[in-house]
Amino acid sequence: MAEYNNSSSTTQVQGGTTLFSPYKIANFNFSHRVVLAPMTRCRALNGIPNAALAEYYSQRSTPGGFLISEGTSISPTAYGFPHVPGIYSEEQVKAWRNVVDAVHAKGSIIFCQLWHVGRASHSVYQPGGAAPISSTAKPLLEKWRILRPDGSYGAYPEPRALTTSEIPEIVHHYRQSAINAIRAGFDGVEIHGAHGYLIDQFLKDGINDRTDEYGGSLENRCRFLIQVVRAVVSGIGAERVGVRISPAIDHNDAIDSDPLGLGLAVIERLNNLQKELGRKLTYLHVTQPRYTAYGKTEYDKEEEEAHLMRNLRKAYEGTFMCSGGFNRKLGMEAVVQGDADLVSFGRLFISNPDLVLRFKLNAPLNKYNRKTFYTQDPVIGYTDYPFLTKGNQTQELNARL
Ligand SMILES: Cc1cc2nc3c(=O)[nH]c(=O)nc-3n(C[C@H](O)[C@H](O)[C@H](O)COP(=O)(O)O)c2cc1C
Repeated sequence: MAEYNNSSSTTQVQGGTTLFSPYKIANFNFSHRVVLAPMTRCRALNGIPNAALAEYYSQRSTPGGFLISEGTSISPTAYGFPHVPGIYSEEQVKAWRNVVDAVHAKGSIIFCQLWHVGRASHSVYQPGGAAPISSTAKPLLEKWRILRPDGSYGAYPEPRALTTSEIPEIVHHYRQSAINAIRAGFDGVEIHGAHGYLIDQFLKDGINDRTDEYGGSLENRCRFLIQVVRAVVSGIGAERVGVRISPAIDHNDAIDSDPLGLGLAVIERLNNLQKELGRKLTYLHVTQPRYTAYGKTEYDKEEEEAHLMRNLRKAYEGTFMCSGGFNRKLGMEAVVQGDADLVSFGRLFISNPDLVLRFKLNAPLNKYNRKTFYTQDPVIGYTDYPFLTKGNQTQELNARL
């Protein structure tokens, strides 16, 4: 194997914490802080995880590593992408077990991301061709296009705003899915409250136009998320539950007039809940705005972003994970400077199944091919990205370095 210069200045932290330092949260002992970000890959044909998923997640597993699954549908109304896995039927629970077992066999810890897309859906994905559900009846703007099962793109339709009395049933679906995830062998769940999907459709004042107890004030807009967190915690215990938010990400029109204020409001409520329970959630996972700046060579919001993330980090009383636009150098800096405990990597992990080893060695990275992010081939663009080393060498080197 080639020799690489792994002594870049950011790794030379004598005795200090780096991306490769262990991290302990409640029952989990992570051997490093390079986390697989949740990523929809559309390979679970008809909503059932299969051997391709087992291979994909197993390839990205390291001893003591941490993986978060792709967004996984909590109910039949939760879908908005083709061939997304679910976690509400017995068939799905059983099928996930094979994936989780493959990951555990490699020594990694894996959480299931619980997902409901809300209005970011289409009647083709809905039972009986119904309208998608949301906090609002306003559709997404024309500039956003939905990927339909046949691979074509179209406009998002008008959603139906949930009535107040329908909300407890959706909250129940999150709880039941979390219980199912544990039954499937997952070590915990991440509640997807980010990126303009259902929970974010309640959080953001650019979307939520409700006049009941779920709309208007910050207290009301945070209510749905906090009810979901409480319900999931009551089902599986706080130490198995992570929460993801993205107060400053405008994906799917999820704009808020005060992202920092919203982020702090969520955090205040999570902190209070933790105090009330006398236990901590596993982590808070925050996507930073750099994520949506992809393709741009210059990124001019550096200071604004750092200010937002540091304030959220400071306010949250628990484990803080960042995501969005990180490479080895930026991830290392975030951990070294104390801006994050854990860093999740998305696109680089798609094209580098052995990302952890490559980072350790400071080795060159494979480039990702965006065209195969959401296709259905079980191999191409999914499990065929090359490793640096052959056979068991990756595992051996990971354990040694
Ligand atoms: C193909 C793809 C699918 C994604 N699917 C999800 C998802 O299911 N759930 C989620 O919370 N984030 C999802 N994301 C966002 C990633 O978790 C991550 O935050 C994002 O890619 C930014 O990190 P990166 O710059 O390291 O790629 C997705 C991103 C990509 C590229």
